[in-house]
Amino acid sequence: MSTFQAPIGTHDVLAPQSAQWEGLVATFAQYAHRYGFGLVLTPMFEEIGVFNRGFGEHSEVMTKEMYVFTDRGDRTYALRPEGTASVVRAFLQHQPTLPFKAWYFTPAFRYERPQAGRYRQHHQLGVEALGSDDPALDVEVIALAWRFYEALGLTQVRLLINSMGHAECRGRYVDVLRGHLDEHRAQLCDEHQATWATNPLRVLDCKKAPCIAVTDDGPSLPDFLCAECSAHFSAVREGLDALGISSVLAPRLVRGFDYYTRTTFEFVADALGSAQNAIGGGGRYDGLSEQLGGKPTSGIGFGSGIERLLLAREAEGLTKNLIDRTVDVFIVDTTGGAAATELADQLRRAGLAVERGYDQRSMKAQMKLADRSGARLALLVGPQELAAGEITMRDLRSDDLERGQQRLGREGLVAVLLEHLNK
Ligand code: HAM
Repeated sequence: MSTFQAPIGTHDVLAPQSAQWEGLVATFAQYAHRYGFGLVLTPMFEEIGVFNRGFGEHSEVMTKEMYVFTDRGDRTYALRPEGTASVVRAFLQHQPTLPFKAWYFTPAFRYERPQAGRYRQHHQLGVEALGSDDPALDVEVIALAWRFYEALGLTQVRLLINSMGHAECRGRYVDVLRGHLDEHRAQLCDEHQATWATNPLRVLDCKKAPCIAVTDDGPSLPDFLCAECSAHFSAVREGLDALGISSVLAPRLVRGFDYYTRTTFEFVADALGSAQNAIGGGGRYDGLSEQLGGKPTSGIGFGSGIERLLLAREAEGLTKNLIDRTVDVFIVDTTGGAAATELADQLRRAGLAVERGYDQRSMKAQMKLADRSGARLALLVGPQELAAGEITMRDLRSDDLERGQQRLGREGLVAVLLEHLNK
């Protein structure tokens, strides 16, 4: 064991497993492009206020999970715990034309109690769309996530949906909820007996039985929507229906950040039995731009955890990589000259994935490496081949050594290899 290990709740990802990550990111990039989103890159840390104002001071992320630090210039920054606030900050700073539609792939940092599917550094694929409150945009954003999950092969995903209303309808609901919690405060879990009054909505998020019982019996958010928010919500649900995307109304779904307004949603992977079965979540945040000091601008987006998507794929038995990272050719070189380097260069320029042996190791040792690399073909460059200006090609997936092996001239070599590889 080495002296140092990756920090608690974080993971190193090495090849070949990392090919699964590459596949996910490449697929998401393709889908984001299809839906009109461009890649956005923002710093991994921001002034603490970017998060503080957006999430709400009393949110769980803000009070318990932030990685906050002071730099050498005495500025207080925080590592990003999610992608939305930074994108909205960047949007306000650069004022791109509307609608502004951005996608991202980012690590996110939360000081959580690590467990399966819950980490201190996780990674999100997400989108944010600013500048329109058209329900058609809600439908598109949700459809993008849904079609992406389909492309990953996932079939056991449920879409939970709710509307938080705008500030006024939500305010009315929170007042009534507060009254209800006050009446039943003695029945709440220990934590929420102490904190229910500061942020009553968080009690709806609580997974403990006493809080669930109290809130199940209490007022329901959808009953408090004003006519406009109600019509918006219906339009979103009808739009989803029209695309064949079924959604389940989840009146308790308020999500963990205070910035949400109107549509909120979560994707649950039923193959993941654990509590960590949310593979994605998002919603509207029509007030966030103003909270960060900008003009009122509607916004909606979602984030999806890569680690959980991979766990969900595994749980559904989906093991095939989404991207081909197999080695085509392994060059076994016992001459130690320039021939192998030149051959590798020629084949790589022709588009093949080439691995090779180094250090003039024995033929046997290199053949072992060739097998382990998963390459389809081995190309042997020995003294005889070198003298004849040829190479020996061996099909590593053929049991028949005679038939699986042949001498080839250098002329037209690439075409022969491509044919063998069905490329
Ligand atoms: P979130 O629900 O906190 O939302 O996170 C989005 C997704 O990231 C979750 O559904 C889950 O898959 C994954 N995730 C979150 N925390 C962890 C963790 N500790 N370990 C592993 N995976 C995790 C947001 O972050 C919002 N910014 C989403 C959004 C975008 N809303 C509007 N736009």
